[in-house]
Amino acid sequence: MSEDMITVAMPKGRIFNEAVELLRRANYPIPPEFDESRKLIIEAPEAGMRFILAKPMDVPTYVEHGVADVGVAGKDVMIEEKRDVYEVLDLKISACYMAVAALPSYDPKSEVAPKVASKYPNLTSEYFREQGEQVEIIKLNGSIELAPIIGLADRIVDIVSTGQTLKANGLVEIEEMIAITSRFIVNPVSYRTKSAQIDDMVDRLAEVVDQGVEAK
Ligand code: PRP
Repeated sequence: MSEDMITVAMPKGRIFNEAVELLRRANYPIPPEFDESRKLIIEAPEAGMRFILAKPMDVPTYVEHGVADVGVAGKDVMIEEKRDVYEVLDLKISACYMAVAALPSYDPKSEVAPKVASKYPNLTSEYFREQGEQVEIIKLNGSIELAPIIGLADRIVDIVSTGQTLKANGLVEIEEMIAITSRFIVNPVSYRTKSAQIDDMVDRLAEVVDQGVEAK
């Protein structure tokens, strides 16, 4: 990896477009191929940058291991993964929240150790431990809303954005847990060795984040 090149780990999926828009507003010349390519590494040599396109849950892993200097990761992923990275800026994009949901007929008193399905087993177990409630956690990788409908779990812990997925599947929110936005994260070694470029990036992003917030 070139000394001066900054490698940015970007989350594929729903955060991606908002993160790209933020970088473009900060005047980073993001190559047009970002928008339609299936390539997983995209070079932007004129900006001294290289982008790797990762699964959202894996972004902190790439950054922790230093194969990416910086990255964009949801607060949900940061809580779940607990990676050794610096969280330096709230990008205030992809706002949503984590919630506990169930079928409307669900009676919380009906089970001794209710089953809770989630893509976030660590976050979920921590949450219920703090609540003093004993639950059995069932780890799934997506389509979590299926679990209570099909009888795999009593409750789910998942991201709610518009609320449409819960509604479309006849589930109701029981509890709002944590507000989530995307964060700019940095590898601790890169923060020292590439401090000029990374500080500049943080400043430019912070400026457009503030403009975005003022505009709302
Ligand atoms: C996420 C989340 C919910 C849904 C919430 O799933 O897990 O299912 O979005 O969004 P909404 O409140 O706007 O309906 P995603 O689409 O990322 O896919 P997944 O089910 O495979 O995790």
